[in-house]
Amino acid sequence: MSRSHSSKRYPIPFDLHPYLVKNGWEFIDDIIWQKPDYSVKNRIGEFMQRRKPLDYKPNAVTEYLMVYRKETNKLIDWNIRSYDKETIQASRVPNGFETTNVWKIEPCFDKIHSAVFPAELCKRVIQYYSFKGDLIFDPFAGSVTVGETARALGRKFFLTEKEATYFEYMKSKEKPCLFEKEATKFLTLNEFIESTLNLSTGGIN
Ligand SMILES: C[S@@+](CC[C@H](N)C(=O)[O-])C[C@H]1O[C@@H](n2cnc3c(N)ncnc32)[C@H](O)[C@@H]1O
Repeated sequence: MSRSHSSKRYPIPFDLHPYLVKNGWEFIDDIIWQKPDYSVKNRIGEFMQRRKPLDYKPNAVTEYLMVYRKETNKLIDWNIRSYDKETIQASRVPNGFETTNVWKIEPCFDKIHSAVFPAELCKRVIQYYSFKGDLIFDPFAGSVTVGETARALGRKFFLTEKEATYFEYMKSKEKPCLFEKEATKFLTLNEFIESTLNLSTGGIN
């Protein structure tokens, strides 16, 4: 906020992990997105001059992308066998795939949202961890790059976002496509809860 405030970092993935597991999600992988030094906030400047211990604040060039699936006692192989041949063929991961969990990708910027995922990051994670037709859930939708990439790669998506400004932003970005079987639905939390109640009582939505 100002020079009199300390520049604290917050370990979001570590904080969220126990909640996700408690709510029926199984951890699969942590992908480390590595950004170029020049693209991140400079935190090390002061330390470089004074070299005082505790003043050390490295430039944070990485972000975690955590991959989970719905908890199941089935093996991944069982999952793979449940797809038909055409889907397996159409979902084959192209050459040039990542071989470690550290992925170097240039960041991208957006006029409205301050923390956008690059499409390339979303593309890789969706191609490596899902088949065509699968449902991708991004609980922190933001500028919806995950949703847009999922759609472009033939996957379905379910997104949640808590900030009304970004919810309106994603609505404004939607361009209805005549060839889509189903239009994207945008629901407030109350509308969503109501729609699930309608479904469970056999109502039509
Ligand atoms: C880094 S952005 C996500 C980028 C995004 N996944 C993309 O595809 O570009 C994180 C977003 O999570 C949202 N967020 C934070 N806490 C949330 C919560 N509890 N529920 C839903 N959204 C939340 C923030 O408002 C922000 O827009």
